[in-house]
Amino acid sequence: MKTAIKFFILLGAISGFSEGAGVLPNDFLTGSTEEPVSNVRVTPQSLDLIKFNGPVNLSCSSSGSSLTFVWMNITSVVTPSDIFQINDEGSVLTLVNVSRNEHGSYRCNVSNPLGFDISDPANVYISYGPEDTQLKVSPSIKQYGEGLNVYLLCSAESRPSAQFQWFLNGEELPDTEPALRLTNIQMSQSGNYSCHAVNGKTLKEQKSQPSVVSVLARVSNVLVELDPTDLVEFSSSVSLRCSASGFSPHFF
Ligand SMILES: *[C@@H]1O[C@H](CO)[C@@H](O)[C@H](O)[C@H]1NC(C)=O
Ligand SMILES: *[C@@H]1O[C@H](CO)[C@@H](O)[C@H](O)[C@H]1NC(C)=O
Ligand SMILES: *[C@@H]1O[C@H](CO)[C@@H](O)[C@H](O)[C@H]1NC(C)=O
Ligand SMILES: *[C@@H]1O[C@H](CO)[C@@H](O)[C@H](O)[C@H]1NC(C)=O
Ligand SMILES: *[C@@H]1O[C@H](CO)[C@@H](O)[C@H](O)[C@H]1NC(C)=O
Repeated sequence: MKTAIKFFILLGAISGFSEGAGVLPNDFLTGSTEEPVSNVRVTPQSLDLIKFNGPVNLSCSSSGSSLTFVWMNITSVVTPSDIFQINDEGSVLTLVNVSRNEHGSYRCNVSNPLGFDISDPANVYISYGPEDTQLKVSPSIKQYGEGLNVYLLCSAESRPSAQFQWFLNGEELPDTEPALRLTNIQMSQSGNYSCHAVNGKTLKEQKSQPSVVSVLARVSNVLVELDPTDLVEFSSSVSLRCSASGFSPHFF
C-alpha cells in the first residue's frame, strides 16, 4: 500500500524561464521546496507486553515537509479517547492504559500536499491469562455406565493459547490436550478430574473446578430366585428375589 508521488518539474514547460534569468516566479519557489513523504516508520516495530504498567508510546517518523500524521489500527483510524492519546504533532500514539483489547497492529499514514505514505505495521502483542478456566464433561450426567465414552474438555481465556495439564484425584495424568477422551470408561477411572491451564508467556496457571466422574459397574450375574420352590396352586404365596452385582443397581 505504498504510494509514491513523484514530483516532476518540467523546466521546459515554464514559460518565460530561460537560462541566466535572475528571478524565479514566487509560486514556483514555494512548490519546489515541498519534499515528498518517504521513509515512514513506526518505532518500536514490535512490542511484547506481558505486564502492563503505565502508558506505552508508538512513534512515527518520516521524511518530507508539512507532514500530517494519521494512526490506524486493524479496524479503523485511531481517534483520541480514554485509551488512545495522540500528541499535537500527531506523530506519537500513546496507549494510555494498555489492556488485552489493544492487541494488534498499528500503522501510520503520513501525508502532505504531494501525497502520502504508510508505514509497515508495528505489532503490539499483549499476553494475558489464563482466566476463566473451565472443565466440561460430556455427556453431562450424574453417573456413567462402564463402557461409555466420556469427554472432558478444558478451556481458558489466554493469549498465547494455554497449555493443559490433567489431574485425577490430584495425580497428574500424561494427557496435555485440551480434550481428554475416556473411551470405554471403567469403574477404576472414577474420581475427581480437574485441569490446569498454563500460559507459557505470562507464566501463570489456573485450575478448573474439579468434576466428579462416577462410573457404575456393568450389571452382571442377575439371578431370580423363587422361594419356596415347591408351589401349590392358589394356596401358596411366592416371593421373588432379584439380586445382581454392580454398584447400586436399579430394579424394575
Ligand atoms: C510518550 O509520549 C508523550 C507525548 O509525546 C510524552 O510526553 C511521554 O514522555 C512519552 N513517554 C515515554 C515513556 O516515552
Ligand atoms: C481501533 O481504533 C478505534 C478508534 O480509536 C477504537 O474504537 C478501536 O477500539 C480500536 N481497535 C483496537 C483493536 O484497538
Ligand atoms: C486501567 O485499566 C484497569 C483495568 O481495565 C482499570 O482497573 C484501571 O482503573 C485503569 N486505570 C486508568 C488510569 O484508567
Ligand atoms: C492516507 O492519508 C491520505 C491523506 O489524508 C488519504 O488520502 C489516504 O486515503 C490515506 N490512506 C489510507 C490507506 O487510509
Ligand atoms: C472430590 O473432591 C471433593 C472436594 O474437592 C471431595 O469432597 C470429594 O470427596 C472428592 N471425591 C473423590 C471421589 O475423590
